[in-house]
This record gives sequence, C-alpha cells and structure tokens, in this order.
Amino acid sequence: MSARLIETGLTPSWPAERVARHIRHTESVVLAAREGLKLPGFAIMQFGDTTAHLNLLAVEPRSQRRGIGRALLVWLEQTALVAGTFVIQLELRAMNLGARAFYETLGYRETGRVNGYYQHLEDAVQMARDLRVSVIQSG
Ligand SMILES: CC(C)(COP(=O)(O)OP(=O)(O)OC[C@H]1O[C@@H](n2cnc3c(N)ncnc32)[C@H](O)[C@@H]1OP(=O)(O)O)[C@@H](O)C(=O)NCCC(=O)NCCS
Repeated sequence: MSARLIETGLTPSWPAERVARHIRHTESVVLAAREGLKLPGFAIMQFGDTTAHLNLLAVEPRSQRRGIGRALLVWLEQTALVAGTFVIQLELRAMNLGARAFYETLGYRETGRVNGYYQHLEDAVQMARDLRVSVIQSG
C-alpha cells in the first residue's frame, strides 16, 4: 500500500522487512483498519520523548472519504496523549493536495518545507499538530 498509494513514482522505501521492524519496535505503533478479512487502511507512527513522527498513513482508494483515515489518526493521537507525547510531526509530498487538506481538517499546520526530500524528485511539506491545544480548548 505504501508503494502504491504513498510512494507512487518513487523507488519504494518501505519493504515488508522495514514494516516488520516497526511492528517489533517497542517505540513504534503499526495500526491497521480492518473490515472483515480486508485491511483498507494502515498507519505507522514512531514515538520519541516529546514528539511522535507519523511515518505512513494510507487508505485504499475505494475506502477513502469514509472516515477511516480520521479514525486511524485519532487513535494514534489518543495513544500519544496517553504516552505524554504531545506533538505529532509528519512529512508529505508537496503535490499531495488531498492529504494536505486531510491533515489541515484534522488540525495539522505547515511548519516547513524540505527541497527534494523525496529522492530529489519532489519537495516535502512538514506539518505538525500540538495535541495540547485541543485538550485546552475542549477542557
Ligand atoms: C489522505 C488519506 C489517508 C485520507 O484518508 P480518508 O480515509 O479518505 O480520510 P477521511 O475519510 O477520514 O477524511 C476526513 C476528512 O479529511 C478531509 N479530506 C480527506 N481527504 C480529502 C481530500 N482528498 N481532499 C480534501 N479533503 C479531504 C475531509 O474534510 C474529510 O471529511 P469529509 O469526508 O467528511 O469531508 C487518503 O486520502 C489516502 O490514503 N491517500 C493516499 C495516501 C496518502 O496520501 N497518505 C498521506 C500521506 S503519508
């Protein structure tokens, strides 16, 4: 799914062994959405002391716009809050306007750009969300 939906046109950098390493890694969460026997979406997030990094998030095209991406991200955010890790950071391809709109809807804001981040073919937009902001607003 990563090669097909996220790294389209790039040399895939998330082979199965790398995902397996994250499944075993105690500071990573590999999360899958399940519908019967199908896995329509997944996410991988790595936790640091003060920030967590969302490595990957994807939902199958036929299952998009049904709230699965939001459900995966909210689950990860709740996990981060429990762990006391309040800032979530991520990078996405600069031309991925759909994903950018998705993250903005969920409260993420652009924090920077990295030229040629994706194999020198495409820039990255860096985004982040401080989970404490919504905690304060909803409290
Ligand atoms: C980005 C992605 C994960 C969103 O997953 P999703 O399950 O479709 O998202 P949701 O249904 O939970 O969307 C929640 C809200 O985000 C916004 N949103 C989601 N996709 C959007 C899009 N393509 N354009 C504009 N807004 C969008 C909408 O406000 C949506 O609510 P609505 O459907 O009620 O209007 C999915 O489009 C995807 O997998 N894309 C390909 C891979 C990718 O780009 N991954 C992210 C970069 S690592």
